[in-house]
Amino acid sequence: RGRRLSHCAAAPARPSFGIAFDIDGVILRGRSPIGGSPQAIRRLYSDDGTLKIPFLFLTNGGGVPEHKRALELSDLLGVNISPAQVVHGHSPYGDLVKRFEDDLIVAVGKGEPASVMAEYGFRKVLSIDDYSSHFKEIDPLAPFKKWKVGQPDCKDFMSEKMHPPYDVYQERVKGVFVVSDPVDWGRDLQVLCDILSTGGLPGNGKGDQPPLYFSADDLEYQAAFPSERLGMGAFRIALESIFNQVNDVPLKYTSYGKPNPFVFKNAANILEKIVMDMYPNSQPRNEVQDHQFSTIYMIGDNPKVDINGVLKAGPPWSSVLTRTGVFRGNDNDPKFPADLVVDTVDDAISCILEKEC
Ligand code: G3P
Ligand code: MG
Repeated sequence: RGRRLSHCAAAPARPSFGIAFDIDGVILRGRSPIGGSPQAIRRLYSDDGTLKIPFLFLTNGGGVPEHKRALELSDLLGVNISPAQVVHGHSPYGDLVKRFEDDLIVAVGKGEPASVMAEYGFRKVLSIDDYSSHFKEIDPLAPFKKWKVGQPDCKDFMSEKMHPPYDVYQERVKGVFVVSDPVDWGRDLQVLCDILSTGGLPGNGKGDQPPLYFSADDLEYQAAFPSERLGMGAFRIALESIFNQVNDVPLKYTSYGKPNPFVFKNAANILEKIVMDMYPNSQPRNEVQDHQFSTIYMIGDNPKVDINGVLKAGPPWSSVLTRTGVFRGNDNDPKFPADLVVDTVDDAISCILEKEC
């Protein structure tokens, strides 16, 4: 086990604890920091700006490559966040590259879903915006839409529209990856039903369903609006209900993200690497031992997702529930009780540092 810090400010030895922060509803609402998050995060750094307490962001959100999100967070929080400290819902998609080698895949969601997948190493990726644009009349409602498609993930949208980079009329889509919250639900539900019902070739009769992945299954999450917003889980329910009505075989899919326990195991391994970078001379990881942290705190706002995930993952995970997001209760969540309930992320850090240092 790692040794306990005698005093966190001095940081003489590797800390025996780590912290995972949820983003939406804990650190940010929309793009605005909440709950004193910049101050809370700064408390984990020394005066000279070096990392003192190992931490990462463990969010079910995403839509941009991890290095880009690290820059955004650094900017918003006023500290230096490294890409290794950002774990998105879609981060584990990188492990699937080998399975799809040179296959054509479609990436769905807000932001830059195709860039995200390309950076993981997928070679033939089209965003659903790009893909749909090559099928005339695939979305009968398109003429009634007042927005312009193609930003920001397809800079050469017009030329790509004329010359598809891949032969989308002959080549089947072999995998669909929902990277982030879908933007144009109506068009996406239609086009995904087409791809998934036809064996990956819209307009060509029925065929076997290609694999479908969701990076998370959040029914709702906390954004800038006062009440929760529908998340990827809500989109999954819509797609699954419609697909099952228009097909004889039910939709098959895999969902990643919290509360899956493997997400927490992966995060623990990443925190271990972070602490090894901070203290390169500390004892190497004992393979027999599952972890070297005595406690890893998950600070989250969503009982069903963040706290449930900790309950499933077990030790060394410990949960802290804030009141700045989905959870607003006075006491604890009755179904997924947290180890500690506080008002804000800054309060959470106060409690953790008081206990550990
Ligand atoms: O779209 C993001 C949302 O589903 C959850 O994000 O940071 O609360 O896990 P987070
Ligand atoms: Mg959240």
